[in-house]
Amino acid sequence: MTQHFLTLLDIDQSDLNRLIQRAIELKTMHKAGEVYRPFAGRVLGMIFDKASTRTRVSFESAMAHFGGHAIFLSPRDTQLGRGEPVEDSARVLSSMVDAIMIRTFSHDLVERFAENSSVPVINALTDHCHPCQLLADVQAYTEQRGDIAGRTVAWIGDGNNMCHSYINAAIRFDFKLNIATPPGYEPDAAIVAAASDRISLSHSPQEAASGADLIATDVWASMGQEEEQKKRVQDFAGYEVNQTLMNSAHHDALFTHCLPAHRGEEVSAEVIDGPQSITWIAAENRLHSQKALLEYLLK
Ligand code: CP
Ligand code: NVA
Repeated sequence: MTQHFLTLLDIDQSDLNRLIQRAIELKTMHKAGEVYRPFAGRVLGMIFDKASTRTRVSFESAMAHFGGHAIFLSPRDTQLGRGEPVEDSARVLSSMVDAIMIRTFSHDLVERFAENSSVPVINALTDHCHPCQLLADVQAYTEQRGDIAGRTVAWIGDGNNMCHSYINAAIRFDFKLNIATPPGYEPDAAIVAAASDRISLSHSPQEAASGADLIATDVWASMGQEEEQKKRVQDFAGYEVNQTLMNSAHHDALFTHCLPAHRGEEVSAEVIDGPQSITWIAAENRLHSQKALLEYLLK
């Protein structure tokens, strides 16, 4: 059966832990200038229905470093954008490339694509979740502080795609997750229910941050929610991750943000640009952890 990566739950715990270790190894190799080209002649198709800086550049660079090739496909230039059925596109594209990465709105589309693909499909963000970012975040935490298992993570802000992937990560990487969202912005009930033994939900950023080893947040209005921006800024008042909030976490606590960030909204400049922030390490790790992911899926 073709192995896909639509959510973190598609890979079991021991394989995910090995994948993080491999990402750390690949990073060391890359920094040492070691040439490693296991993917000569292999091709990754990349479908983007939404904007991206990190995801596109990290996947494209990963394929180039590995001696392969990546093809950027936007709805403006493909028949997918003119209504060709997802199932047909999946069948044809997967007959020509070795793996396919998709960033889109509906998670259902990625699932339907995967069902009809003969090669691995990678979810590079849907409205439902963003599993690739969690590989990079967990790698960054592990590099700075060791194993994340048994630690406490606080998610402050929207119960969005990133929050959902943090919940799945709590299951797979075995950490406790305290989530604080404004009322009405809670994460999906079914995703929460599957992790009920290790997560807590509240409407108090201070309570969630208390004693945390890592604090994570994300924009208040995600891609596709631009018209809600004004209302969300009001609804999320008090949810900025600032130094006062960081001070209620463990003294050794770290901060991360998947980026792009809005300084002065979900995070203060002092925190994201400060010494506790592993945001920039995690962003770079998109390259290394996705190399490990591609290796794993194309093994
Ligand atoms: N964090 C992340 O996925 O960034 P991009 O939207 O720039 O790809
Ligand atoms: N929640 C954000 C994440 C961007 C990487 C969004 O979906 O826009």
